[in-house]
Amino acid sequence: MIAGPRYFAALAARLRWDADTLDLTADAESWSALDPARRSRLTVLLAGFCIAESRVADELAPFEPAAKDPAMAAVFAAQRADERRHYRLFDRIAALMLGAPPGDPGSRRRFVRALVPPPLLDLFERRLPETASALSGGRAELVDAVALYHLILEGVVLSAGQHALLAELGDGALPGVRRGVELVERDERWHVGFGLRCMLARDPGSASVLTLLEEGQAAIGAWGPAVSAEIRSRVLAQHRRRLAAIGLIPEARAHATVGRSG
Ligand SMILES: [Fe+2]
Ligand SMILES: [Fe+2]
Repeated sequence: MIAGPRYFAALAARLRWDADTLDLTADAESWSALDPARRSRLTVLLAGFCIAESRVADELAPFEPAAKDPAMAAVFAAQRADERRHYRLFDRIAALMLGAPPGDPGSRRRFVRALVPPPLLDLFERRLPETASALSGGRAELVDAVALYHLILEGVVLSAGQHALLAELGDGALPGVRRGVELVERDERWHVGFGLRCMLARDPGSASVLTLLEEGQAAIGAWGPAVSAEIRSRVLAQHRRRLAAIGLIPEARAHATVGRSG
């Protein structure tokens, strides 16, 4: 049983937090003392989130009018507020830790973008805007856009990145960043749940829906070596379980092992 839009709207209101007051002072001081290999993995992940959260915040705009039902539209609006908050957090981290220029957001964005693996940029800067534009132009259905946004980009790619960040930060080396990522992950759990709720209205023959399993397997590699093979396979297993839960793949395939994870 998947909850209705009013449940998600109430949850969003209850979970709201402030990205500007999260204390990152100790993190900024500890950053340069981290092991260089660890710092470079963290750099890819944090820069990737900075770009990804900025794009998901922008590209969610046409989902709201496409929802038609006002209760569903209100949930997309609440989600968009979350995505803006997530971007604000990672933008602060980029300025404090990654060495991005603190003043002009445009320069900061160019600096951060150069740190992100090209496959990740392709997903968030080409695939997502193309799909959002097709939705706003009436050339794509809402479920097709949700399939990419909520189930692939959030449910697979960003979920893998959050798992990797939390694994890297498990020892408390960057306590403010870890707390921020935990809060982001908590929000993203309801975003994906809401996406699954939207998918109940799908056309079973829709091409974007039929390829969700293969899309997930292709997208999981977007982070490159910053996400371990173990995390990739764990996230793909969760993706399969979600698809089975809403009847998009047979239950037996949810538990099948996948030979290639990215
Ligand atoms: Fe987000
Ligand atoms: Fe999200």
